[in-house]
Amino acid sequence: MTISRRSRQLAAHLTKLETQTIDLSSYIRRWSYDVMGDLTFGKSSRIELMSDGDENGVVSSGQKATVLFEVLGEIPMIFDLMCYLPNICMQEIHVLRKLANDLLATRKQVQGPEPDICTHLAGSDTTSGVLTLLLYYILADRQVYKKLSAELDLNFRHVIEDNELSVLFQLPYMGAVVQEALRLGTPFPGLPRVVPPDGSVICSRFIPAGTIVGVPAYAQQVSPENFWPHPLEFMPQRWLPGGLGPGSVLNKSAVMCFSSGPFGCLGKTLAIRELYIATAQLLLAFDLELDTSFSHDKFKAGIQNMRSTLFEYPLLITARQRGGWKFLVYLCSLASSLFYASAARI
Ligand code: HEM
Repeated sequence: MTISRRSRQLAAHLTKLETQTIDLSSYIRRWSYDVMGDLTFGKSSRIELMSDGDENGVVSSGQKATVLFEVLGEIPMIFDLMCYLPNICMQEIHVLRKLANDLLATRKQVQGPEPDICTHLAGSDTTSGVLTLLLYYILADRQVYKKLSAELDLNFRHVIEDNELSVLFQLPYMGAVVQEALRLGTPFPGLPRVVPPDGSVICSRFIPAGTIVGVPAYAQQVSPENFWPHPLEFMPQRWLPGGLGPGSVLNKSAVMCFSSGPFGCLGKTLAIRELYIATAQLLLAFDLELDTSFSHDKFKAGIQNMRSTLFEYPLLITARQRGGWKFLVYLCSLASSLFYASAARI
């Protein structure tokens, strides 16, 4: 399974960086693009950002293009005009367009045995943003980290095999961590919709046809009316039976980070699985810690939700390998099989 294989590849890369300070956010971005490259273009994917690096700036172009969509999407006419102006703001869109054209041309030539969902490369930035925040939150609270790590250790050895994934998806604390990360990590500042021709009654008020209305997903997800106490804090316990104690509030239906209805996220199940698998594989493989040079204040101040979550300050960590020689042998065999798989594609 692609997500597991790529997550183990991520672990293999971090092993090489043991004892160094690692910018985890940048590795997660590359991991996410590699996963979506495989799922979208199957065997014809040439996206290997973890192995080859990102010389052409695919990740940063993807993010800037998303931000452009978010801002200029409010005035579609200007957006259409700017697409024809080669070097004004739209450089990033052109980088992505070239990448997409190259990938589609290769896909037409290569028929792989794995099915692919060749629609478009959605979901890379959103998933990696939420995963980066999830890892930050658990690294920032050692109690949460230890509890999650203990639950994983109780159920798995150093790696999770594909036939064990159903066990992973049932783990209660792991599930609570993912829910809490989605609640606080939603990358969408708002989800605009146009009121239909007959108008609509919203919150007991009539809203005329054509009006643009929107739900600010993040505000709803941190509202004290929906989550209490400590609505702004990362507390997975709130999702478990008994919540945060008597009087605590958990309004599950207020979480709309994937939106809902006919235009809701098509990749919701996949994204949630990515969060489970990558988190579990990393915690089983390493003892992760925030680097001593890491600044919580700078990291928090540098988070910007613009449809994609931008991190102006890196998530600096150290990773100490767990599990001794057995895990090392496993990673070496994985690295060589990845090498042969990509050599066979060239
Ligand atoms: C945690 C990660 C993710 C979040 C928070 C997320 C969130 C969302 C949201 C809120 C929308 C609706 C946007 C709108 O109405 O303007 C959406 C749409 C969409 N998402 Fe995701 N998404 C995530 C991951 C993914 C993944 C991994 C995929 C890929 C399979 C994906 C594919 C899509 C597609 C194709 C749409 C457009 C649906 C349509 O318009 O019919 N998403 N996503």
